[in-house]
Amino acid sequence: MTASLHLSSFLLQTLSLLLMLPSFSFGIYSSDPLLSLDYYKSTCPNVLEIVRKEVECAVLSDPRNAAFFVRLHFHDCFVQGCDASVLLEDTITLQGEKKSSNNINSLKGYRLVDRIKNKLESECPGIVSCADILTIAARDAIILVGGPYWDVPLGRKDSKTASYTQADTNLPTADEGLVGIIDKIYGDFESTSNKDPISESYLNKLKSVCPITGGDNNVTAMDYVTPNLFDNSFYTILLRGEGLLHSDQEMYSSLFAIVTKDLVKKYAADPIAFFEQFSESMVKLGNIMDPDNFATGEVRKNCGFINT
Ligand code: HEM
Repeated sequence: MTASLHLSSFLLQTLSLLLMLPSFSFGIYSSDPLLSLDYYKSTCPNVLEIVRKEVECAVLSDPRNAAFFVRLHFHDCFVQGCDASVLLEDTITLQGEKKSSNNINSLKGYRLVDRIKNKLESECPGIVSCADILTIAARDAIILVGGPYWDVPLGRKDSKTASYTQADTNLPTADEGLVGIIDKIYGDFESTSNKDPISESYLNKLKSVCPITGGDNNVTAMDYVTPNLFDNSFYTILLRGEGLLHSDQEMYSSLFAIVTKDLVKKYAADPIAFFEQFSESMVKLGNIMDPDNFATGEVRKNCGFINT
């Protein structure tokens, strides 16, 4: 199996999922009347600066950290809404989401979030929720790898619950792209890609990184053209039939890819349209909320545990 560094390849995934948000049926609502841009204005005026500094430090030391922040935010929001449930540790009374099939051995960056939280706790104790930290950090991470800016509404509460079951069912499975793995990666690629020398040499490289047996901990970029940059090259890769994940390539190559095929072409040709749509989609993602959590939630002192 291949782990992945793809700062731009989750974009199509984002589009496919987030553009459809109003109709998706996880029992969570996309609404934000309780969030506001200046939520921490009087209680923690430096929140944005503190988060930005920490994210900057993390991403400059390794660009893949940007991917970790963004994916953490996504995996948080798709389970009970954006409430930092993804960060909760297993305890005697609570089963967290970290060990669910879609997160275990795959979701990373928890320690990076803890670092930000510690900084904020020393500056404004008990004020900034972990769910807001994830939302701001995802935005800052994207900017640091060349992506667009968007305003982040704030005021989320951290949940006192987590859902291992939803983490298993609501999140897209690794099987959709990575498992079946050798078969799917090589199989797809060979049938969809151009048979030119560049494609052939990329395929040969993949075969050595992901041998038929072994190499389970090997890592490869999903966007082999600009792996550390947030840009639209992922779409060009799909046009060439070279998507690493089956689920990504399907957006262009599937017989059913009617709407998405046009989107792939559009974003490959027009980076600005892509950045605009991405920003809009990220705000939608961050606004997925369980309204009850505003009443029952809290601001955790430690992102891994509910307050006692
Ligand atoms: C169709 C929906 C999606 C599927 C099937 C999917 C699947 C996957 C898989 C299988 C991986 C590799 C995990 C690993 O290496 O262990 C991955 C990585 C990633 N996904 Fe998604 N994903 C989807 C949607 C999204 C969305 C909406 C976002 C962000 C908004 C996102 C962000 C990421 C990021 C940043 C990574 C790279 C993480 C790293 O480098 O470790 N994904 N995704």
